[in-house]
Amino acid sequence: MTDPVFLITGASRGIGAAVARQAAAAGHRLVLTGRTAAPLEALADEFGGPSRALARVADVTDWTALTSVVAEAEERFGRLDVALANAGASVVTSFLGTTGAPPEEWRDLVLTNVYGPALTARATLPALLKTRGHLLFTGSAAGRGVRPGNLYAATKWAVTGLAQAIRAECVGTGIRVTLLQPGLVDTESIPPSRANDPRLHPDDVARAVLYAVGQPPHVDVNEIIVRPAGQRN
Ligand SMILES: NC(=O)c1ccc[n+]([C@@H]2O[C@H](COP(=O)([O-])OP(=O)(O)OC[C@H]3O[C@@H](n4cnc5c(N)ncnc54)[C@H](OP(=O)(O)O)[C@@H]3O)[C@@H](O)[C@H]2O)c1
Repeated sequence: MTDPVFLITGASRGIGAAVARQAAAAGHRLVLTGRTAAPLEALADEFGGPSRALARVADVTDWTALTSVVAEAEERFGRLDVALANAGASVVTSFLGTTGAPPEEWRDLVLTNVYGPALTARATLPALLKTRGHLLFTGSAAGRGVRPGNLYAATKWAVTGLAQAIRAECVGTGIRVTLLQPGLVDTESIPPSRANDPRLHPDDVARAVLYAVGQPPHVDVNEIIVRPAGQRN
């Protein structure tokens, strides 16, 4: 079996699940991870069961869990071709303290959004090196401009830097690195303050991911920004 193998963190819903469905339709075998077993297992069943998809619980801040999933994926499928570091969290913040979540909740935000993709990269790159594979990150349009008081945006600036640092380290290896920077997407992570703003569907972002992955090996799509028409920044 030579069908390519695609690992996704945060695959249980939203953007991750949409990418999983489009990747499966394009012939990829899937490695689906997140913190909740039931939706991952339901997706794996949808894709044809154990020969086509592996569903495993792994918190992206847990190094041992991530490396175990990659090892199991290589053992089950014999290869890893694509990894999408997608899992992320969103919390409303204010540094003046006038609104938003208490600082005790900021730690998990930073760990999930910054430490998580860094660990995902470190866990998957040795396997991607063997296949001259493709590593992608779900950053955000918030990782480009200034958003007042917004720690989430700062974590996505960190993802921008992470993707660039990893791409620079991977030059000459054949590994491709892509940073996705979506604008507002209609998922559970939208803050109530943006409920009436223009938004993308998760499938819109998934198409951008599959575009980058589907390029020939000599084409490295490094950044894709995709906003809903009408989004200001
Ligand atoms: N929605 C937007 O407007 C938007 C815009 C730009 C970028 N993004 C980014 O897109 C990515 C996906 O978000 P989404 O909008 O699709 O949100 P979502 O529907 O809330 O999905 C988040 C996914 O991440 C998983 N997850 C959360 N924390 C995790 C952890 N510590 N370890 C492993 N998995 C974890 C969740 O599953 P469990 O809870 O079961 O673990 C879920 O599968 C995030 O990085 C987000 O920042 C979103």
